[in-house]
Amino acid sequence: MRAALQKGDGYAGTSTGPRIDNAADWLELATMPLPEIAEGQVLVRVRRAAVNPSDLHFIKGEYGQPRVAGQPAGFEGCGDVMTGPMAGQRVAFVTTGAWAEYAVVDAATCIPLHPAISDNDGTGQIVNPLTARAMMGMARDAGDAVIITAAASQLGKLMIALGRDMGVKTIATVRRDADLGADVTLNINAPDFQTQAKAALSELKPRMMLDAVCDQTSETLFCMMPNRACWVSYGKLSDKAPNLTQMGQMIFMGKRIEGFWLTQWFRDTAPADQMAAIQDVQTRFADARWATDVSAELQLEQVVNGLADATKIPDGKVIIVMA
Ligand SMILES: NC(=O)c1ccc[n+]([C@@H]2O[C@H](COP(=O)([O-])OP(=O)(O)OC[C@H]3O[C@@H](n4cnc5c(N)ncnc54)[C@H](OP(=O)(O)O)[C@@H]3O)[C@@H](O)[C@H]2O)c1
Repeated sequence: MRAALQKGDGYAGTSTGPRIDNAADWLELATMPLPEIAEGQVLVRVRRAAVNPSDLHFIKGEYGQPRVAGQPAGFEGCGDVMTGPMAGQRVAFVTTGAWAEYAVVDAATCIPLHPAISDNDGTGQIVNPLTARAMMGMARDAGDAVIITAAASQLGKLMIALGRDMGVKTIATVRRDADLGADVTLNINAPDFQTQAKAALSELKPRMMLDAVCDQTSETLFCMMPNRACWVSYGKLSDKAPNLTQMGQMIFMGKRIEGFWLTQWFRDTAPADQMAAIQDVQTRFADARWATDVSAELQLEQVVNGLADATKIPDGKVIIVMA
């Protein structure tokens, strides 16, 4: 099979963010034998795979699991199960090795896809939607309003739509003007950003900030938030680390900082609750309340030369097409 293979091994020890200038620094296209499956696994013929920020962190050695040189990259996709009792089913899946014509997937993580869901929506069926759902559940438990940073991301758009359904007011931050349907949208580059932010926060009193950027602007917002506010770090889009300037707020205002990782959510969430979440996600895509915005489609053989430019196109996901 053909695959886009990781070139690096282990962790890089750097923190440069999910941006690449040349995919050839991190990936090579190769032909390799079909992978073998073990007990509990299935072979999936991949139709399409997503390019998420986590994939770019990963191939650069900056993600929460080590690289294995010579193995295919890519965490998420959709395809057809080739082996076992699910053979013939079109499924969404997560694995390590989705940027290949065939992927080995734990059978338990294969999600049969509703016929109304397109292959492009099928590639983004697990990571972002389940994260959006889990984190907006946390936001609803925390209060009536939430700050969502980098809100023009696919995940940000899903969370804004969920906020409307749940009755949670959304304060969205963006770095380019965009109409995302949030209750308040703040452009972090606007000259009056801090004034606008102070006004919005004092009116809506968000108790949670769901933050994919984690830079100094995030810290400024956190310091403006009311008592008992929680800053949830779930991504590292910025390559700059924030300075914590008001530690007393943790003591005297009961504020806290924590993280969210979907991998941990899977470990902590009962299978029945996971199934309910997955079904809700599929219904939302099937009835078009949610959709995947696609900025570019690349054939597998275009990945090494074309991925860096494709990831610079705003407002959508890059999708890798296998056939
Ligand atoms: N912890 C978890 O379990 C988990 C699960 C899923 C996703 N995530 C994280 O969620 C985030 C969003 O993922 P996604 O797939 O939805 O992303 P995406 O659709 O690829 O969008 C990325 C967005 O981030 C914005 N952005 C990039 N760098 C930025 C910066 N330095 N400051 C402000 N905005 C910046 C981009 O803005 P422009 O439009 O202006 O380029 C774009 O709107 C990522 O950090 C990802 O790693 C975490």
